[in-house]
Amino acid sequence: MPKASVYVCNNVSLDEDIDNCLEEIKKDHGKIDGLLHAIAHANTEDLRNDFILTSRDGYAHAQDVSTYSLVAIVRMAREKEMLNEGASIVAYTYYGSEKVIEGYNVMGVAKAALEASIKYLAKDLGKDGYRINGISAGPIKTLSAKGIKDFGSILDVVEERAPLHKNVTINQVGDSTAFLFSDMSSAITGEIIHVDNGFSVVGV
Ligand SMILES: NC(=O)c1ccc[n+]([C@@H]2O[C@H](COP(=O)([O-])OP(=O)(O)OC[C@H]3O[C@@H](n4cnc5c(N)ncnc54)[C@H](O)[C@@H]3O)[C@@H](O)[C@H]2O)c1
Repeated sequence: MPKASVYVCNNVSLDEDIDNCLEEIKKDHGKIDGLLHAIAHANTEDLRNDFILTSRDGYAHAQDVSTYSLVAIVRMAREKEMLNEGASIVAYTYYGSEKVIEGYNVMGVAKAALEASIKYLAKDLGKDGYRINGISAGPIKTLSAKGIKDFGSILDVVEERAPLHKNVTINQVGDSTAFLFSDMSSAITGEIIHVDNGFSVVGV
């Protein structure tokens, strides 16, 4: 198996950090076929308190790190002419953008903006033949997920109510991401695909 290279982008809130990271990648690999945005952050107090108490700074922080970073990274990669012909971009989002999920708060609002950004970016990037899509993944216990209040009970509800009665795995999200990176999805852009064992289609 080929070794994966790791390039650090310390803080996506800083254009300079994004620029340095992309330059490093370009130096070693030239053009890239795909780009995955898997970054999100909100201040802990904004995930603990009621949404109405979100501070101006906390709101801006969640939007900057979790949403604007996608716009900045994609724009810079395009400006550096490091996207290969037919390149595909994928960003991870969550159902908390569509429905109110206890404790998701300002992150739900950031994900709603991320999903809208994906659609607007699809229009711009389509001019160059690039695609961009979102995957709305079901909940998975990761470091970030630990910041969400009562995350364990969210997993229980999905298992009970999702049509497939189980939670998604990291591999399943990875498989769908590989599909969106591949030519098998060449006619799909600006789309948000739910990879959630069907949880989002259930009403009552
Ligand atoms: N875990 C879930 O249940 C779930 C569900 C749907 C979508 N997602 C999304 O998947 C993506 C990956 O999250 P995860 O759950 O794997 O958690 P994670 O903690 O593994 O990943 C979050 C990443 O964001 C990076 N990050 C945070 N702030 C940053 C900053 N200022 N600059 C640069 N990097 C920064 C962290 O270093 C980390 O690598 C996120 O967009 C998350 O919202 C997660």
